[in-house]
Amino acid sequence: MAKFPAEFLWGAAIAANQAEGAWDVAGKGLSQDDVVPYGGDARGKALQTIRSRAQIDALLADQNLVFPKRSGIDFYHTYGEDLALLSEGGCNAFRTSIAWTRLFPTGMEAEPNPEGVEYYRNLFGRMRELGIEPVVTISHYEMPLTLITEHGGWANREVLEAFLRFAYLVLDEYRDQVKYWLVFNQISSALMDPFLALGLLTEDLDQPEAAIYQAIHHQLVANAAVVRYGRQLDSSLHMGSMVLDQTAYPRTSRPEDVLAALQYNQQALFFSDVMVRGAYPSTILADLARRGIEIEWAPGDRETLAEGTIDYLAFSYYMSIVVGEGMSLLDANTWSMGEEFNNPYLKATEWGWQIDPVGLRYALNVYTDRYPGLPLLIAENGLGYRDQLVGETVEDDYRIEFHRDHLRAISDAMADGCSVIGYLPWSGIDIVSASTSEMSKRYGFIYVDLDDFGQGSGRRWPKKSFGWYRDVIRSQGENL
Ligand code: BG6
Repeated sequence: MAKFPAEFLWGAAIAANQAEGAWDVAGKGLSQDDVVPYGGDARGKALQTIRSRAQIDALLADQNLVFPKRSGIDFYHTYGEDLALLSEGGCNAFRTSIAWTRLFPTGMEAEPNPEGVEYYRNLFGRMRELGIEPVVTISHYEMPLTLITEHGGWANREVLEAFLRFAYLVLDEYRDQVKYWLVFNQISSALMDPFLALGLLTEDLDQPEAAIYQAIHHQLVANAAVVRYGRQLDSSLHMGSMVLDQTAYPRTSRPEDVLAALQYNQQALFFSDVMVRGAYPSTILADLARRGIEIEWAPGDRETLAEGTIDYLAFSYYMSIVVGEGMSLLDANTWSMGEEFNNPYLKATEWGWQIDPVGLRYALNVYTDRYPGLPLLIAENGLGYRDQLVGETVEDDYRIEFHRDHLRAISDAMADGCSVIGYLPWSGIDIVSASTSEMSKRYGFIYVDLDDFGQGSGRRWPKKSFGWYRDVIRSQGENL
């Protein structure tokens, strides 16, 4: 394999709400994640998809439930050693997010909570000490719960304003420590989980689809406003944002299926189109009109979108899907894709996520053709697996194979002419799953001894993949 560029960001990625725990310390407010119960069993699965205010009240009143994101892996307290271990494993970059509720417990405060501000200053300081480049997501599936229950989530413009107060403060505070910014995690996953991504309680809404698109519009405007602010503040900042990539292949070569896959990809690429080009594509405007959805634009929104285009595009990549006639992005409105999205040529994980390294090369080429010259960052890629600790390690050859194949695909894409600036596997160290709130769905190169109910020693054990990844980084990918 050809060597990866010397300045390549090799690292790992996590999110505050799935790792930090410490949900009620140092003035932190209650976030949407603190009410999501363990979803690894049938009861939890049914409880998990939050769609109404009544459901939240019932969850909070139920004394028998476990809320794993409240304790995470206690990264809030252990980040010093965890980062040292990741640095030993060769990482020169690390992606994490800032919990809005540590800085603004309800989102409506005029001034930030000083303990929250200090926590992240120390966290980023530790990364710098270890020679790790922070890549920081400002919004990763985490917002104050009251912004959802009392203010209607992202469909309400007030929430956009509250977010800007938080995001501008974060840029003011940490711009000397953090150069790589991602405003939103997986902004295009809005349809998959409107509660986590947009703070919407869809069963309480008269017109959920219209509210979803209004909320998406607010996030796109917020994204652009934050990018513009960062750029004006300090031209050395790299202002980016992130989408979820689930490349859709046509289910067959029937022209109707090929057209359906194209339209599905248009709906998904709409998010990056707006963030990169600064305006809504005509195909999406037509699609919204066809469905009778009218978005409310505030004065200045068009200018904001045009002025706040991103410097680089980050994306997560776990799987590809197939799409045929009659299927749209709205059908994929779930974390576990239905069988109709399955590709007979691919194997899937226990959770049904189809493994497709070639799809990563394909996606990189699509973005390169669509946005010529734009640097691309793989901000998440990984394999969820029910790892078994045997003795002091996990023999995770399956994970090594997964990452090796995806890195080879990246190398091939770079040879195709794609500009890739980094690879940040999910999640470096085991953390709580976003979709199922379980620990059993593990992604790390480092095993964390905690079970689905937060029980265990909490000790960290490097898996076999840890040494493998370190050697890949040392050889700059040459030994792949
Ligand atoms: C991405 C999210 O969709 O996938 C992460 O940005 C998430 O937050 C990751 O953890 C893997 O999903 P899960 O549900 O397996 O944790």
